[in-house]
Amino acid sequence: MKIAKITLNKMAIQDMKANLHQHVSSIEVDSVNNNYRVVFKDLDISGYILFQNDEFKAIHYCEANEKGVSCKHLNVFSSIIDTIGETLVKFSTKGSIQEIETIHEQLNDIDFTNVNSQFGLLAPIEEVDAPPVAAPVEPGDAAAPTTTTEIRDCNVGWGTVQTYLDKEGLPPALIHRVLERRGAIHATVSCLPMMIKPEQPHYPYSGPMLARALRHVLLGKDLILIGDKGTGKDTLIATIGWVLGLPQTIHVGNKDETKESIVGEPAFRDGESTFDLSQFASTVKNGGLANMAEVNMLMGDVTSVYHSLLDENRVLSSPVGAIKRHSQFLMIGSMNVGAGYAGVRALNDAFKDRFAVLRLPSTLEFVEMIQNKTGLHDRHGLLFLEKVKKAVDQLIQEESQGHAASTIRGYIDAARYFLENGITAETKHEIIEDYVLNKIEDLDEYMALRHMIRDSAWGDFPISAEEDEYQKGGY
Ligand SMILES: Nc1ncnc2c1ncn2[C@@H]1O[C@H](COP(=O)(O)OP(=O)(O)OP(=O)(O)O)[C@@H](O)[C@H]1O
Ligand SMILES: [Mg+2]
Repeated sequence: MKIAKITLNKMAIQDMKANLHQHVSSIEVDSVNNNYRVVFKDLDISGYILFQNDEFKAIHYCEANEKGVSCKHLNVFSSIIDTIGETLVKFSTKGSIQEIETIHEQLNDIDFTNVNSQFGLLAPIEEVDAPPVAAPVEPGDAAAPTTTTEIRDCNVGWGTVQTYLDKEGLPPALIHRVLERRGAIHATVSCLPMMIKPEQPHYPYSGPMLARALRHVLLGKDLILIGDKGTGKDTLIATIGWVLGLPQTIHVGNKDETKESIVGEPAFRDGESTFDLSQFASTVKNGGLANMAEVNMLMGDVTSVYHSLLDENRVLSSPVGAIKRHSQFLMIGSMNVGAGYAGVRALNDAFKDRFAVLRLPSTLEFVEMIQNKTGLHDRHGLLFLEKVKKAVDQLIQEESQGHAASTIRGYIDAARYFLENGITAETKHEIIEDYVLNKIEDLDEYMALRHMIRDSAWGDFPISAEEDEYQKGGY
């Protein structure tokens, strides 16, 4: 290992400061000796900045450095030292992994303190245990609680949320703001009976729309998510609920809903007429996430009841007076805009104008998603599913046919079918038909897709008797 004087580009060092979180998971200091330990996201062994003979020297191992080639780690070291107001010019080069391991072991007994916050990095995760469930109270016990409001701790489960947000590439400053909002929510919103508890989805949303949605929500905006079936609209809503700790209520739009039924219904009790608030109105009042599925199914004039709730007025009118919107109420509507959806109505402009409207793309990482979601790792099986999907996409694109067979859920089901029943000609045949093809009702489109699948995905896809007949012109 050599220690060499290397001159780095000043701009690159400044750029690195803003992006440090992408490369480094923690920075620790041994304040007695003024040495730094740097844990890189892409390296197995930490790097060190050692203070010796009045100057800093950075030491690390990576393949490029071993060959004497420049690497991003040098910029990381320099930006760290630049942040503390010093200059770093000396770096180890051509060091072997054994040499760095020896240094690592020598420094093992020394106490290092985490200083992530000084460099704008996320604080190290300390998992907080859920508070023990209170023992049942004996009837007549003087200590019996008088309210049902549960105190929730926003730090419980935060470690998992932070790790996920970091993995999704959210910058630390945004993650800090999410935690702040999560704190405010936990302090003021309880999970009432009938609400869905915020829990980690089995496979949380993954994609660039996560950061974008959270930025809007932190600004106080409500959202409308638009996307084809299976683009993750409900997954994103559940993920936002989990990340922020917001309990959820689900409301499915239907054309029979009226301005009054959205808010509640008149009731008659103890000889008096009253008005029972709907679950939606109760979420507005007590805080929570109102998930408005198929929001476009609501009749145009009905949506005007939401206008004052969504604009600066922040109230919902009701026959029993205005209901003030809770500071931690969030409304997320979703709608499916794929072709062939009967009953889809264009939303009223004044309604739409009150939301941030996000269009969700279909997942780009198809194979990775199916793999993570189902646990199917067989390359052959995964690539087979991808080919079938591409055949469907191709038919839709080239001939505007077969949209009903465009699915994500179908492939998730297919992967689970493979796992359970093996990947054979028989199971391939079955999953293509039962999870993809048979979703098409139109005969010509159905036959066109059979043909396309045989042509571009699986040459051995059997010709059915019906298909044979069709080809001979029997239909
Ligand atoms: N970007 C994504 N990240 C994580 N999972 C995804 C993503 N896109 C799709 N999925 C997966 O696809 C399946 C369908 O997702 P989801 O139910 O959220 O879709 P949707 O947009 O609500 O569909 P629909 O309009 O049919 O109701 C789920 O199993 C989900 O895990
Ligand atoms: Mg959905």
